[in-house]
Amino acid sequence: MGSDESILILERVKKYFPLSLGLRGKKLYVRAVDDVSLTIRKGETIALVGESGSGKTTLGRIIAGLLPPDEGRVIYRGIDLYNGNVLSKNKELRFKIQAIFQNPDTSLNPRMMIYDTLAEAIRVRNNGLTEEEVAEKAAVLLENVGLNLDHLTKYPHELSGGEKQRVAIARALAMNPEVLIADEIVSALDVSVRAQVLNVLIDVKDKYDLTIVFITHDMGLVWSISDKIAVMYLGRIVEYGDTESVFRRPLHPYTRMLLTSSPTASLIGYYRNDKYKARGEPPSPVNPPKGCRFNTRCPIARDKCFEEDPPLSELAKNRWVACHRALEEE
Ligand SMILES: Nc1ncnc2c1ncn2[C@@H]1O[C@H](COP(=O)(O)OP(=O)(O)OP(=O)(O)O)[C@@H](O)[C@H]1O
Ligand SMILES: [Mg+2]
Repeated sequence: MGSDESILILERVKKYFPLSLGLRGKKLYVRAVDDVSLTIRKGETIALVGESGSGKTTLGRIIAGLLPPDEGRVIYRGIDLYNGNVLSKNKELRFKIQAIFQNPDTSLNPRMMIYDTLAEAIRVRNNGLTEEEVAEKAAVLLENVGLNLDHLTKYPHELSGGEKQRVAIARALAMNPEVLIADEIVSALDVSVRAQVLNVLIDVKDKYDLTIVFITHDMGLVWSISDKIAVMYLGRIVEYGDTESVFRRPLHPYTRMLLTSSPTASLIGYYRNDKYKARGEPPSPVNPPKGCRFNTRCPIARDKCFEEDPPLSELAKNRWVACHRALEEE
């Protein structure tokens, strides 16, 4: 569970990717992240959820210090992560926020034995350790992610997908982070393995006192792991709140749609309303609709929704929603 201590604050963060194809000389941009503000508290697990292309990975990379925003600030424990659009020179900052991605093959060096991968990370964070001390730390890391010493002498290609993700988690932990960004880390795994890797994440969160940003498009996973949920649509956060309360009574029509159309979330039995059955595809983030961005798919949109862009407002205690009609129609 989270505390009241804010450790990461995003202020009006924007990231627009230029499209190489301009239209009649006019430069076009994909508005991947478009004015996101968010406070993340120590010890919480916050899920970023939304359909493909909603900007989750882009936002995750910005939070992880891997991608400078075009505008806005990312503040970790009072320090700006970026100076303008370059990453802060403060090395400690880079270690404190670690990211793990869907495909471990991109993060693990195929030519390095697992031991060397872990040892390298351990040495970055601990100067002057003896070989035995490094080996000892590597063994503890492996044990904490549910692997054993046999795995140390293997290469990534000798491991299963789930084992590789465990190694990726161990390597991130070797950096002694305070925040872990987990971007679709179980999405490519079999359902049975998925639960195991999620359990590893839950275990190490407690052991290492982590704060986790869990990125997924699966509402069922949100339910199993997160305290907070931030729902993204076309580069914006459209709903934010405690997971339990959002699942019980989603206020944004888009969240209602995600819950209604998720087979796993339906199993939990919190919310479902056929009025909000999924329809249509998200419009292009190059040219989002005028007014509310969800108006092309929203079953309860009225005139105002086509004219005014609703701000993210606190409509109930700790419940933030960007919708003109959230409380009018359920
Ligand atoms: N480097 C890039 N250059 C240009 N466009 C990009 C780049 N990275 C992302 N985009 C675009 O930004 C938008 C948001 O992408 P992002 O990867 O953040 O979405 P996502 O929510 O993580 O989607 P998914 O669920 O498919 O992973 C998409 O339209 C994507 O095509
Ligand atoms: Mg993504």
